[in-house]
Parts: sequence; structure tokens; C-alpha cells
Amino acid sequence: MIRTFSRPVPLVLLLAFCTFIPVITAAVSVVQIPLGALPEDSLRLAVAPVAFFLHSLAGVLFGVLGPLQFVRALRQRFGALHRLAGRVFVLSGAGLGLSGLALLLKVESLSTGLLDAARGVFGVVLVAVLVLGVAAARAHNLFRHRAWMIRAYAVGMGSGTVGLVMFPIYLITGEPPTGLVAGIVVVGMWLLNIALGEWVIRRMTTPGPQRPSATRLSDFNVEKTT
Ligand code: HEM
Repeated sequence: MIRTFSRPVPLVLLLAFCTFIPVITAAVSVVQIPLGALPEDSLRLAVAPVAFFLHSLAGVLFGVLGPLQFVRALRQRFGALHRLAGRVFVLSGAGLGLSGLALLLKVESLSTGLLDAARGVFGVVLVAVLVLGVAAARAHNLFRHRAWMIRAYAVGMGSGTVGLVMFPIYLITGEPPTGLVAGIVVVGMWLLNIALGEWVIRRMTTPGPQRPSATRLSDFNVEKTT
């Protein structure tokens, strides 16, 4: 699995596969909102059109740029582009979290308290983690910077992969899970993604003879400080 970090294309494809449902949904909303062409089940979000539009746009940028930013070969060959895309990634991540919080406050929720509470917590955590990632980059601690950015991506896209579970359930039962079951599935997937992010960070810090392709601390020219 970790070998994907030394093989850029599989890493990008894997992350793109896991997140294409929310990214495509958000891209469709980016077009529908200004055209006033939202489907009926999304109309209630139009009470906060700016927040909804920014949330969808930020979701697309965050979801597309995230995987590309983690590809080592691209970072090494196109350093200036990595820094530019990194700024857009951070801004879109902050926009994603803040607009998600605005939607939470402004739109009448159809979800359970459990899911709404998780959205509130993860929206704040996303912004905080991005701030820590930027601070680490400014301090030239690239190792810590990368760890925080992996965390940010895991938190931001955390609920996105839920489609991978919801869709098969929908195909089997003919209807999507609702209520508490849906809340538990979404929050469960969110936590699973965050745990996977932590696992990747841990693997990256634990070089071993069995994993010659694991990311090495020497790749960052800094000491391990986390
Ligand atoms: C910390 C991360 C996130 C938070 C806190 C968050 C929060 C929210 C909230 C509160 C809503 C309104 C839910 C409702 O009442 O139906 C919402 C909807 C939405 N979010 Fe997010 N979100 C996050 C990440 C993402 C990402 C990564 C994407 C896309 C890549 C995304 C795309 C959307 C879209 C398209 C909708 C509208 C869904 C519809 O049309 O029913 N969100 N989000």
C-alpha cells in the first residue's frame, strides 16, 4: 500500500477513485448554483447560495489538488507549481471548512445531531490543521508540514468516501440508509479516513528494511520532530 508513495500514478488514481463521487457532485453544484438549476433535493441549501457555491467550489479544488500535492515526483520536479497549488489547496481547505460551518448554521438540517456535531467539529479541525501545516512550512519543517497536510486532506475529504459504502448499500437494498444509520456510516467513514491518514503518517516516519520505497526522513532534509 505504502508503495503507492513511490509510484505517483497509482497514488493519484487510488485517491481519485475514493473521492470522485463528492468531487463530481460538487462540480455539478458549481455549475447548477449560478444557473439556478439545482435539483429539488438540494434546493433547501439555496437559502445560503454564497456559502453553498463556495463550499462546492472549494470541495472541487481541495479534492483535485490534494492527491497531486502528495506525489513526490511532482513536488521534486515542479517545486514552484507545488507551492502555488499548495496555497490554493490551503485556501480551498479553509474555505471548505468555513463554508461547511456556515451551511451548518444557516440551512435547516435533515441529518441527525450526531452527523451535524461531527460536521461542526471536523470543520473547525480542518481549519486548525491547515493553520498548523502552513506554520510548519513557514518554519521550513517540511516533515511536520507534510504530516499536517495529510491530516488536513484526511479530515477534509473524510466524509467524501462514504459514497463507497452508501452506493453498494443503495444497490443492494434499493434505498440509501437514512437517520441514525446514515449518521453512523458517515461519521464512521470519516473517522476511518482520519485513522488511515494517521497510519500513512506513521508509516512515513518508520523506515524499515522491508519497505525500501517508504518515504524517508531524508527526503525532507529535516530532523524528525513530531
Ligand atoms: C470538513 C469538511 C466538510 C464539512 C464540515 C462539510 C459540511 C457540509 C454541510 C454542513 C453541508 C450541508 C448538509 C445538508 O444540510 O444537507 C454540506 C453539503 C455539501 N458538501 Fe460538504 N462538508 C465538508 C467537506 C466536503 C467536501 C470535501 C466536498 C466535496 C468534495 C463537499 C461537498 C458538499 C456538497 C456538494 C454539498 C451539497 C450536497 C447536496 O446537494 O445535498 N463537502 N457540507
